[in-house]
Amino acid sequence: MSAPLTAVVLAAGLGTRMRSPLAKVLHPLLGRPMVSWVVHALQELGADVIVVVNHQEDAVRAALPGCRFARQSAPLGTGDALRAALSLLPESGPVLVTAGDTPLLTAAALRRVFEAHAAGSGPVTVASFEVSDPTGYGRIVRDPSSGDRGAPPPRNAPPSHVGADGGGTVRIVEQSECSPEQAAITEVNSGVYVFDAAHLRAALPALRPHAPKGEFYLTDLVTGPATVVSGFDAALFGGVNDRAALADARAVLRRRINRAWALAGVDFADLDGAIVEAGVTLHPDASVGLGAILAGTSDIAGAVGPHCVVTDTTIAAGAVLHANSVATGAVLHAGAEAGPFARLRPGAVLEADARVGNFVEVKNATVRRGAKASHLTYLGDADIGAGANIGAGTITCNYDGFGKHRTTIGAGAFIGSNTALVAPVTVGAGAIVGAGSTITADVPDNAVALTRAPQKVLPGVAEKLRARYRAQKEAAK
Ligand code: UD1
Ligand code: CA
Repeated sequence: MSAPLTAVVLAAGLGTRMRSPLAKVLHPLLGRPMVSWVVHALQELGADVIVVVNHQEDAVRAALPGCRFARQSAPLGTGDALRAALSLLPESGPVLVTAGDTPLLTAAALRRVFEAHAAGSGPVTVASFEVSDPTGYGRIVRDPSSGDRGAPPPRNAPPSHVGADGGGTVRIVEQSECSPEQAAITEVNSGVYVFDAAHLRAALPALRPHAPKGEFYLTDLVTGPATVVSGFDAALFGGVNDRAALADARAVLRRRINRAWALAGVDFADLDGAIVEAGVTLHPDASVGLGAILAGTSDIAGAVGPHCVVTDTTIAAGAVLHANSVATGAVLHAGAEAGPFARLRPGAVLEADARVGNFVEVKNATVRRGAKASHLTYLGDADIGAGANIGAGTITCNYDGFGKHRTTIGAGAFIGSNTALVAPVTVGAGAIVGAGSTITADVPDNAVALTRAPQKVLPGVAEKLRARYRAQKEAAK
């Protein structure tokens, strides 16, 4: 893109139709706040992005690194919002303006509007699109008496320059001010504009408020000869005004992301049946099961089974997270496997070929190469040595009500089922702990430790016991 581009994103409204205390533009959308989608698209074009803020402005500022900010002191409409950014605008050159609630816009679509402006001669360019139900949108009203053909161009038409030669004019009429004829117009304002900065300096101060709310409409800047860029896919401009539209936007972005990864070599059980957030990295030949949710900064080269929830987790090629597992802040090295029904919490590291099975929880613990904990175990604040075997029901008792303590298990150790390891404690390499033990003191390398109570066997007593219980039950009737 040749000329430097300044872009203004209007994001000061609360968005009452969302019925939420959270500012509309902050609603989460596949791992990013809604407003950051359009900001990313603009930054991809190399634009200097100015965001107009008001509601929850601290949170909006924090969510958008690399942007400049202008403050609109009261929500007096889109025209007033742009006016708030005036002092940050360059003296001349193109200024692209868009709303913060249109997250489906792509860099390619924005570039097209920008290029149409550069090719046109007027100071104003607006992007339009066709919808079957135009309710809620500003209508593009072309003035037939001024020489324009009075009808929108066909879909996919090249950018049309309305009024340049025929002297035709265009204006935008909002829903609330439409005549019945205007209300029937299906060519609508996308809310994406490019203005010459000099024109904004002259025209913005001259905006007049509209009754009954006294709002200043940005759409009033589109008067007289203006370039209208049309023929866009309506889906690009889907504005999010309520939660139904937010959910629709999620579906569109989800499919866009999944498709792109699929084309990059990722295997999806179902393109519509997995959620991959924007900050996730996938690698060729990774696989994503039905219903999997991949979130945060996860980096996946291995396999994620169906219905797993994976956040900020790295899964190397050849590692497998089996069905219905939840992993947060974990690392699985090549050949490691977890689940089904495993829970990996922050700091869980499964080294190469380590295995944790069903109903095993691992937190802030390293399970070293080839070690196994196959069932029903809690490993917290622990270091499990290479090749160690942790029996079912083993629990690291890492918390004494005041502090967390570590358990260290040496390479090749065998921990019998239902062992309680009362931390801080160390079991040496090659040691064996008998099932059902409560280990409170360190076990040296290659030792056997056993705290089990001796077993009593009373021959024939079972029948006597049953007779006694039967008699008690009869007596109670
Ligand atoms: C606007 C357009 C309409 C267009 C539609 C496209 C106007 C008057 N109408 O309507 O022609 O078809 O977008 O989606 O511009 N905002 C502020 N400060 C304010 C008011 C709004 O920053 O005082 C921001 C909002 O946060 C939002 C954006 O401007 O991101 C658009 O505002 P919204 O109220 O959603 O306008 P629409 O009714 O959708
Ligand atoms: Ca809107």
